[in-house]
Amino acid sequence: MTAPKLRLPVETARLLIRELAEDDLDALYAWRRHPAYRRHLPMPRQTREAVEAELGAILGDQTDYRRLRFLLGVIERKTGRLIGEAILKLAPALRHRQAEIGWAVAEDLKGKGYATEIGRALLDAAFGPLKLHRVFAMCSTENLASRRVMEKLGMREEGTLREHFRARERWWSSHLYAVLADEYRKKRR
Ligand SMILES: CC(C)(COP(=O)(O)OP(=O)(O)OC[C@H]1O[C@@H](n2cnc3c(N)ncnc32)[C@H](O)[C@@H]1OP(=O)(O)O)[C@@H](O)C(=O)NCCC(=O)NCCS
Repeated sequence: MTAPKLRLPVETARLLIRELAEDDLDALYAWRRHPAYRRHLPMPRQTREAVEAELGAILGDQTDYRRLRFLLGVIERKTGRLIGEAILKLAPALRHRQAEIGWAVAEDLKGKGYATEIGRALLDAAFGPLKLHRVFAMCSTENLASRRVMEKLGMREEGTLREHFRARERWWSSHLYAVLADEYRKKRR
């Protein structure tokens, strides 16, 4: 079974979701370095070198026909500025037709509904062209904004993973949210 291919770019009312490019490094680093970016993410400090290495790995993945992980750039259409990230990770066992989604938005543009718009575009792609069956998302239990985005997307809370991750010398707990293809289609009508 070959991995379904996400057709890009994806356009929404205000955003364009596209592959990241080499010259996106400055914009990507600009919000990755902001303390708010990783406040609720169990990741190490985002140095320019680390972001550059990650971007290099993403660019390398783009030509892999077995690609399962799509870390994409989000452009604000009215300004042409790269303002966020959209993530879609297909589960390796393709017959189950599952994926995880995620989002990030530059600090100065939060609260405009952009993450919700990103999430909706990912779900439309997942349950449309990609023909997936279930899509889930996770956020740290302290990440109230991301949890709210999941609710606005019509995802249902499936539970809390208690202290399932260790980073930055502490345990992290996460909410797990998901939506099934049928549920999403009914809500979208
Ligand atoms: C989480 C994040 C993506 C949200 O982006 P955004 O574009 O501001 O999200 P939206 O505007 O679509 O929706 C945010 C919702 O959360 C609500 N919200 C924001 N902060 C909140 C808080 N502290 N408590 C409760 N609700 C909160 C907003 O009011 C809004 O809900 P509403 O439309 O009902 O008013 C953004 O904060 C971010 O990039 N954070 C850093 C990276 C990250 O944590 N990514 C998620 C990984 S799981």
